[in-house]
Amino acid sequence: MHTKIFSATTIGVDAHCVEVEVDLSLGLINFFIVGLPDVAIKESRQRIQTALKNSGIKLPERKITVNLAPADLKKEGTLFDLPIAIGILQAAQLLKISQTFLNETIFIGELSLDGSIKPIKGALAIAYDAQKLGKKRIIVPHANAQEAALIKDIEVIGVSHLIQLVSFLRNERPLTPAQHNPVFSSEPTDTLLDFAQVKGQEQAKRALTIAAAGGHNILFIGPPGSGKTMLAKRLATIMPQISFDQMLETSKIYSVSGKLNGASVLATRPFRNPHHTISQAGLVGGGSFPQPGEISLAHNGILFLDELTEFKRDTIEVLRQPLESKQVCISRALHSVTYPASFLLVAALNPCPCGFFGDTKRDCLCSSQSIDKYLKKLSGPLLDRIDLQIHVPAVDYDTLKDTTLQGKSSADMKTSIARATETQSERFTSSNRSNGSMTSDEVEKHCILSSEAEELIRKVFDKLNLSMRGYHKVLKVARTIADLETSSIIEIGHLKEALTYRSLDRYFEKQH
Ligand SMILES: Nc1ncnc2c1ncn2[C@@H]1O[C@H](COP(=O)(O)OP(=O)(O)O)[C@@H](O)[C@H]1O
Ligand SMILES: [Mg+2]
Repeated sequence: MHTKIFSATTIGVDAHCVEVEVDLSLGLINFFIVGLPDVAIKESRQRIQTALKNSGIKLPERKITVNLAPADLKKEGTLFDLPIAIGILQAAQLLKISQTFLNETIFIGELSLDGSIKPIKGALAIAYDAQKLGKKRIIVPHANAQEAALIKDIEVIGVSHLIQLVSFLRNERPLTPAQHNPVFSSEPTDTLLDFAQVKGQEQAKRALTIAAAGGHNILFIGPPGSGKTMLAKRLATIMPQISFDQMLETSKIYSVSGKLNGASVLATRPFRNPHHTISQAGLVGGGSFPQPGEISLAHNGILFLDELTEFKRDTIEVLRQPLESKQVCISRALHSVTYPASFLLVAALNPCPCGFFGDTKRDCLCSSQSIDKYLKKLSGPLLDRIDLQIHVPAVDYDTLKDTTLQGKSSADMKTSIARATETQSERFTSSNRSNGSMTSDEVEKHCILSSEAEELIRKVFDKLNLSMRGYHKVLKVARTIADLETSSIIEIGHLKEALTYRSLDRYFEKQH
């Protein structure tokens, strides 16, 4: 007997349909799986046999051949256990599922030895593509039902045991499809953080407002204890609202990494804060079956690299390409995988090895050579992609202890940001674009300067010997400042402020 069941696997964040063909024939009792299976699929043979036995189902005494097609598709993971087991039961006529039902259904799930069905990675991505392929239902592990149910117009049936599924397929016991009510997951600390907790530092808060409003990467330079980490961690509280499509994109990445933890969607923009000992593969993604790295887990959110100079230089260098293209391509011998990686980079560092260069109260103990060596870890091409670079001096004791001091709160800062985001949605006719991602042509088109501002930029361009990239960076930031003040043209005040956010660029210009 021969039967065909449909399943799917993910490559990157895209799902691909896999046909599971099962053939039972007379011959030596044996069990083969063919179609480029990896080690996990070979092991699944063991799991399937034991799970069926422990569910009280006796395997037919036949030669079982399973083919996973297409053969050239690299298949990974354990999610074919369930379709293979169901295929065997159907081919052995222990199940009599109609061909229409089989054609309309995708099965995914890993089996435990006792027959229970364990969660798998990528259920959301698979449900998304199954619906596009016109499938009517998807049968998934119970623990993945919520995430798959984010996708409307496809019936999601969550199952927790093989016996439960067999009874359902024999029409002995109904199963209720999962409700399409997204369950949101967000970081619990979110509600505790607020910019009101940061005393003083109005300039840094202003720079963060510009970063959030225009999607500009930002770098803080300042002595230890000045509040750089504190400021960066609060950026998430003022970011523009995430759209549904962005939520879906980011949640798919968490789904294929197995990080949704029972939720269907990541409700807030992600905030990722990897430690400086992270490997290159951990940061940008990698592994023999490539997994998304921190930059993709930060997609549509924030990547915070604290103590930037402590990261290995090679590790930071690999950020250059994704910062430009907003995605990362991981090449492997057999196939390459692309993951989205559009994130806002926030970085913090001390100005020198001892941390007190430029401090008004403490002396810096570093030689100028050691400072140069320290800062050279940051390559020019990386700094080129950081529009806002600001010095964060330590706040004095009186300001820190002043209980009457009411600085700007996150809610205060959010109002003008929301306005600026709206202006940009109209400008780019897309909610995913911002001033920080403007191409050269767009900078020329959208950054119209007043005559006074034009005069100033001409002088600055010659005097500072600005590169074209440096010039565009200043104009992009000025565009966001003008948007925050609902001005359609860039006035001289906007430009002057934009020119102040060049701390490290200025340092390197002086060196040459
Ligand atoms: N402006 C500030 N307002 C309130 N507390 C501050 C401020 N700056 C620093 N602190 C306090 O000092 C601690 C150290 O700040 P941190 O952000 O870790 O500094 P850095 O990262 O620059 O070394 C913070 O946890 C916070 O308690
Ligand atoms: Mg810090």
